[in-house]
Amino acid sequence: MKVLVLNGPNLGRLGLREPGIYGSTTYAGLVALCEDTAEELGISVDVRQTDHEGEMVGWLHEAADHGLPVVLNAAAWTHYSVAVRDAAAQLEADLIEVHISNVHKREEFRKESYLSEIATGLVVGLGVQGYALALRWLAGKAG
Ligand code: DQA
Repeated sequence: MKVLVLNGPNLGRLGLREPGIYGSTTYAGLVALCEDTAEELGISVDVRQTDHEGEMVGWLHEAADHGLPVVLNAAAWTHYSVAVRDAAAQLEADLIEVHISNVHKREEFRKESYLSEIATGLVVGLGVQGYALALRWLAGKAG
């Protein structure tokens, strides 16, 4: 099984970006965590990050066209992008929404997600380990 792990804006700056909120793991560390977890689980992952909404929409179309499950941290787009939601709504395989921080403990605007209604499930507030948990759940389902 192949899983796309898609990350939205500013997540390329993990480790540098507000470490008190997002932790000290760098984006390279997050990619390594996902790849190591996938290897352990016997699945394959393709981990990507973009600051460009159209690129994210294209990746979601690719996942839809190939029937691939997606682990998605849409970052700020979560809270306002109808385009990302409409692209994610085309997925037939599972969509797991991940947030590193507990968005419900933060500003009001972070409590709204355009994605939760169409996601299979969510992992929120468990740091970068949330990605590993999402992959474990997907692999368990496939196995
Ligand atoms: C985030 C939470 C979002 O509110 C924020 O815009 C992000 C990261 C998280 O992983 O905690 O960029 O999705």
